[in-house]
Amino acid sequence: MSNKDYVIAPSILAADFACLGEESKNVLASGADWIHFDVMDNHYVPNLTIGPMVCKALRDFGIKAPIDAHLMVKPVDKLIESFAEAGATYITFHPEASDHIDRSIDLIKSHNCKAGLVLNPATPISLIEESMDKLDMILLMTVNPGFGGQKFIDSVLRKVSKVRSMIDKNNLKMRLEVDGGINLSNIAQVASEGADTFVAGSAIFNQEDYSEVIKKMRSSLESI
Ligand code: DX5
Ligand code: ZN
Repeated sequence: MSNKDYVIAPSILAADFACLGEESKNVLASGADWIHFDVMDNHYVPNLTIGPMVCKALRDFGIKAPIDAHLMVKPVDKLIESFAEAGATYITFHPEASDHIDRSIDLIKSHNCKAGLVLNPATPISLIEESMDKLDMILLMTVNPGFGGQKFIDSVLRKVSKVRSMIDKNNLKMRLEVDGGINLSNIAQVASEGADTFVAGSAIFNQEDYSEVIKKMRSSLESI
């Protein structure tokens, strides 16, 4: 029985965009911990989604839970500021999308937000090594970014365990998040490699009953 502090962060990319406030409220009332907020700019990734105005609208609607803003945008700095002002809790970005990674991390921290770096499946761990001790979270993509509903890429499991060892070896306190294709059949396996924070879009929002799937995810996590 695990007593680890696991976080389930539904991605509202898979929710009904006509009523994101209600959807966020419902999924939190169904047992989710955070709202994962996917920002795509039709430049760094081909898709185009939601920006800081929508983040602020969720706060104004009464969403109090942490909002995990995943910036799939290039450049990043201007939007870091906008999301901090819009009420984001975590702000994560892809290091290859910033010309000055350390400066972008400092910018996030200067707004009292939590900072994270995101690695795509083929992006080497070396890109985050120098910044590890400043981070609140590392996000490992388990699909290529840009779309919801894709298939989990198994080869990232090795990377999850490598990054977990680096975090533990250096006694760092940060979350290790995974994003893409996470569902009931793989969540326990990813957790056993060392992830503690799970983004899930279609696996949750494509179900009638959000609380049932979140409950099942938690019991899979308990089983490891
Ligand atoms: C992909 C996004 C993910 C995505 C996850 O670029 O970062 O957050 O919405 O969706 P599922 O769980 O459907 O793969
Ligand atoms: Zn995401």
